[in-house]
Amino acid sequence: PFPLHRPASQNEAAPSLQLAQRPRRNRKAEWSRRLVRENVLTVDDLIWPIFLTEGASGREPVPSMPGVERLTVAEAVREAEKAAALRIPALALFPNTDPSLRDPTGSESLNNRNLVCRTVREIKRAVPEIGIITDVALDPYTSHGHDGVMEGERILNDETVALLARQAVLQAEAGADVIAPSDMMDGRVGAIRQALDEAGFQDVQIMAYAAKYASAFYGPFRDAIGTSATLVGDKRTYQMDPANSDEALREVALDLDEGADMIMVKPGLPYLDIVRRVKDTFAVPTFAYQVSGEYAMIQAAAANGWLDGDKAMMESLLAFKRAGADGILTYFAPRIAEKLKSQG
Ligand code: PBG
Repeated sequence: PFPLHRPASQNEAAPSLQLAQRPRRNRKAEWSRRLVRENVLTVDDLIWPIFLTEGASGREPVPSMPGVERLTVAEAVREAEKAAALRIPALALFPNTDPSLRDPTGSESLNNRNLVCRTVREIKRAVPEIGIITDVALDPYTSHGHDGVMEGERILNDETVALLARQAVLQAEAGADVIAPSDMMDGRVGAIRQALDEAGFQDVQIMAYAAKYASAFYGPFRDAIGTSATLVGDKRTYQMDPANSDEALREVALDLDEGADMIMVKPGLPYLDIVRRVKDTFAVPTFAYQVSGEYAMIQAAAANGWLDGDKAMMESLLAFKRAGADGILTYFAPRIAEKLKSQG
């Protein structure tokens, strides 16, 4: 029989299995683990989402997202300077619109002096080298919290798309580099591309939230932009069913046909299979959004001492890279950038 254990007293060679392959050999030391490492996270992979407020107080904490604050225009400019110093490539802006400015059709979205447009202009003036991504959707502006205009209980697709195309042009006029429609209306990427081109913005990119799921993980974001309390019903007639995967590929194919330059999958960690399928199928720039609920879970567990927050953060971000993502939108962006910088 196979001699697994020999008495040490016999002074023979240490007991050993006859293995041609010992995967542990490559893991024996840090230099070797570094040498065989397949994926790396760098600051170039990060997009930092920032919440904006009209409030006068400078910074307002978001209780369900510890460490995240809503910022006034002036504070947003300061964060943009910090992001540039950390070499974070781009910011994504999300407004908490004053409740008095919200109405059923989200008309504040078409005000070229709204919070987002003003912030884009100020950041572009102060920090021209940083990329600015603006969200195209009506939910920060509607009194009912939906991403489209409503007729009774229905979200009207084509009427909404017409508004989104105008919103996109205003954002581009303010200086946005990338337009990111997160509304999930049909045909909006094509309409936005056409409107941007007609307005002379051929170079403005479109990052399409192509595969965006109707997810419970968006809860803290809705607190941050102030739609939790007002949202009527849910978004399942436009955001995707979490049960589906082939449908994500169909959505991505349509958005690419319509002119999308980059594709977003959202949420992130629970949908890494979608990231992988999209990247393998289309081989286009593919991004993942580590959404508010994913952030909140790691922060809450870390605050309770239930896991090491820093390690969980880094591991979660590396997982996106392993799944094939070219970059990640994450509320951890400044913390990660600082950590990567200190690691040299
Ligand atoms: C909707 C939008 C959502 C998020 C960003 N834009 C989701 C929603 O409210 O349905 C969620 C982002 C996050 O959770 O971090 N336009």
